[in-house]
Amino acid sequence: MSVVVSPSNPPEPVSPHALELAALEPIFETYQNAARGSLIPVLQAAQETYGYLSTTVLETIASRLNFPISQIYGVVTFYSQFRLAPRGKHVIRACQGTACHVRDSSLVLETLKSALGVTPGGTTADLQFTLETVACIGACSLAPVMMIDNEAHGRLRPDRVRAILDKYRG
Ligand code: FES
Repeated sequence: MSVVVSPSNPPEPVSPHALELAALEPIFETYQNAARGSLIPVLQAAQETYGYLSTTVLETIASRLNFPISQIYGVVTFYSQFRLAPRGKHVIRACQGTACHVRDSSLVLETLKSALGVTPGGTTADLQFTLETVACIGACSLAPVMMIDNEAHGRLRPDRVRAILDKYRG
């Protein structure tokens, strides 16, 4: 039976939620013949599309690939490549390795936590920054160091940290 669309019978509005999930369809099409071995590539492609794996996306994948949701969570929590929360536009990696530690990297980290209002692993509410810690960035001669995206910032002091953050805001 066909549905007649007219001004008195407008089409059903498509929810933003449905639009969001529509981006999964090309992924399912790509991997539809790969059977059950396709779970990880599908999760990777979904994360590439959305930046992270939301509950709704994981439930949709579980339903379409016929996996128990518990098994999907088992996979995404086992592999560190998968993210279950959105990341910020900029990812800050504050080094806490030995060379940085002896040069007060803890002060740098405290400044970052206070300026951003998040702890390591957290993302600011405006999705501008995600804060992480790392063991060594490989730039020990510049200790204490942090990376913001692909850029290293060394010989940090609290006032410099705040000034650098200001350059990335907006
Ligand atoms: S310990 Fe921080 S860069 Fe190596």
